[in-house]
Amino acid sequence: MTAMHWVLAILALVLLLAFAYLYTLTWIESRQARQLESKQPYASATVSASRSAVVYFSRSGNTALAARHVAKRLDAQLFSLEAPEYELGMAGLAHALKDANTRRSQPEVLPDITPRTIDLTPFDTVWLGSPVWLYSPAPPIWAFVEHNRFDGQDVVLFNTFNSHIGEDHIAQFKAKVMARGAKSFVHRGVLRGRMTQQLTPEQMLQAMDDEWFGEQAKP
Ligand SMILES: Cc1cc2nc3c(=O)[nH]c(=O)nc-3n(C[C@H](O)[C@H](O)[C@H](O)COP(=O)(O)O)c2cc1C
Repeated sequence: MTAMHWVLAILALVLLLAFAYLYTLTWIESRQARQLESKQPYASATVSASRSAVVYFSRSGNTALAARHVAKRLDAQLFSLEAPEYELGMAGLAHALKDANTRRSQPEVLPDITPRTIDLTPFDTVWLGSPVWLYSPAPPIWAFVEHNRFDGQDVVLFNTFNSHIGEDHIAQFKAKVMARGAKSFVHRGVLRGRMTQQLTPEQMLQAMDDEWFGEQAKP
């Protein structure tokens, strides 16, 4: 084989491995989403005495499960944000990576979300849930903050993530929420661990109970 043949063969192998990695990742995500869908069902009453709202975006079901758990604990009204361009599968994953990367240099470029606005005026506390993409809350939750106000409200950002969050992104998110009228801002995160050694859903909910609502959450 000539040197050129070797280069082409190595390039083909690298591409094949990258494709296999992304394919495996999307397969795991889809399986996870199916398994989590039925856990902790929560039907928020249309008219609730609760003064709390939980608004979340989730691609593969983990933040959705966390959101249902928070809503259940607080008897809150639950709102899901849809962003079809990030649906499960290779195309959605590629879109998610591309847009998360774009947002770093062009924060004004934000995805379409449904609903774009929610009447949050009945609530004192608003919980905003999102996965972490490229160390930052995912673009749909940034889009929600951009299109809504939080006048006089206590805002809690909560994230599910596998390994790392960038504190600089959380500081930017806080600045944005405060600029849109919030009275206070708190960040909560639940570290699930990398793909092969993640917390089970039950362990994740237990960690939330301990760290967000238990003794460890007290100032
Ligand atoms: C496009 C993409 C980028 C990600 N980037 C990070 C990251 O930078 N840090 C991290 O800890 N996890 C990262 N993750 C993992 C997710 O944050 C984690 O799996 C999360 O729990 C998924 O939430 P969901 O099931 O609600 O979508 C990423 C996932 C995706 C799909």
